[in-house]
Amino acid sequence: MSLVSATPSEIITGDSTSLAQLVIDVQQRRTSQRRCAPSLANRALEAVLAEDAGRLDPAHPDSIFTLEPRLAAGEGVPFLPRERLLTPAEQRTVIERFARAVATGQLTSGPAVARFEAALADFLGLPHAVATGSGTDALITALRAVGVSQGDEVIVPANSFAATENAVWACGATPVLADVDPVRHTLDPAQTQAVITSRTRAILPVHLYGRFADIPALVGLARRHGLSVVEDACQAIGVTGVGVHSDAAALSFNPYKNFGLTGKAGAVVTRDTELAARVRKLAYHGFDPEQKNVKDETFGLNTRIDNATAEVALGLMPRLTLNSYRRTFLAKRYLDCLGDLEPHGAAVLPAFVQDHSWHLFGLQVAAGREVRDAVRAHMRSLSRVETDIYYPVLTHHQQTPLHRKLFAHVSLPSTERLHSTVVHLPLHNNLSLAEQDRVIEALHAAFRATH
Ligand SMILES: Cc1ncc(COP(=O)(O)O)c(C=O)c1O
Repeated sequence: MSLVSATPSEIITGDSTSLAQLVIDVQQRRTSQRRCAPSLANRALEAVLAEDAGRLDPAHPDSIFTLEPRLAAGEGVPFLPRERLLTPAEQRTVIERFARAVATGQLTSGPAVARFEAALADFLGLPHAVATGSGTDALITALRAVGVSQGDEVIVPANSFAATENAVWACGATPVLADVDPVRHTLDPAQTQAVITSRTRAILPVHLYGRFADIPALVGLARRHGLSVVEDACQAIGVTGVGVHSDAAALSFNPYKNFGLTGKAGAVVTRDTELAARVRKLAYHGFDPEQKNVKDETFGLNTRIDNATAEVALGLMPRLTLNSYRRTFLAKRYLDCLGDLEPHGAAVLPAFVQDHSWHLFGLQVAAGREVRDAVRAHMRSLSRVETDIYYPVLTHHQQTPLHRKLFAHVSLPSTERLHSTVVHLPLHNNLSLAEQDRVIEALHAAFRATH
């Protein structure tokens, strides 16, 4: 569906498709009568829409983007400022919610856990959410729940965070690497098919940077070969389709994520009732949830989300989709302002697609690694703008003895080409327009100096 074809009166569900559409509508000044679906995650966005939808536009005098401090001359732009991951209002909410949990003494298990899981499932439109101690543990419990065990192989991309492969190792299985689609940066179905063996048990695609992998094709492939699919959606909360086609998806709420909390946390989301029940047991010592300390599984971790963290999550959830809107708007603004770099072939920009959470904004410096590094150095030294290469070492280039033994002869041309040219620009929930302008200016100056 074309982004400009939807009618402006549609209900905003808060998923990535609806937010991408809202960004286009705001840019085209077509926001009247827009309303959100009634979900806790939509509360702050709904409040802005009800009061004055024009505030979603930076041009509005009371815009949600102009409430931030201005940048002083010569001030730099950090890649991810830790002290600004949460707004002052969000910080106050955290303290108030945490105090509430402390006062009850219900710090580990408690009623906020089930309430948070229900709110999360409701927002995602899925029947089950099981909240865990981290995204990594969500991946481990989901893989174990679909039956991955000792001696199995699980197909993963090589360009993800180490948690993806570590979850496979933690099950006693071996990660097998497949190359990625050069546009999405996510597992290529044909390359995935090429590495299936009799030992393959599951496929673990990663929605890298927040861009949805080709899940329908990967699930089709998996079904033909009797395999399971667990999505690593740790960077992709709210992306349309997460958890809909696969066996399960793992989310992360660590402080650096789009929906970041004040510690480590994650969740497994699924449509499968039995699988959700198995994850629940595997996340708490293998116990039968109906009986105290009675085992129903041989083994389980101790990784249910803490009640105190779930309280915090419930407190922060009302801003989830407003924050996602901000990221989506800022990503579109990067694309609009950097588009002139593309026709000359100097840069390759990501497409403004509907199935993206914009966890990271990566672009390719087409001239290769050395020019990419020179661009970054120029931005840092002349403009004090920090960029990043988020995962600096690909899985098959890690140097542990086992990595060397297993992956020495692995060649992944698309993964390697993308990795040698990618640069990540600052993009977080509270990036200001002034900061973004500084990044855009610095990138243009760096391209002029290096090309
Ligand atoms: C792609 C990916 N997978 C897994 C994880 C692990 O999540 P967590 O840090 O919550 O364990 C992360 C985040 O760190 C991630 O970005």
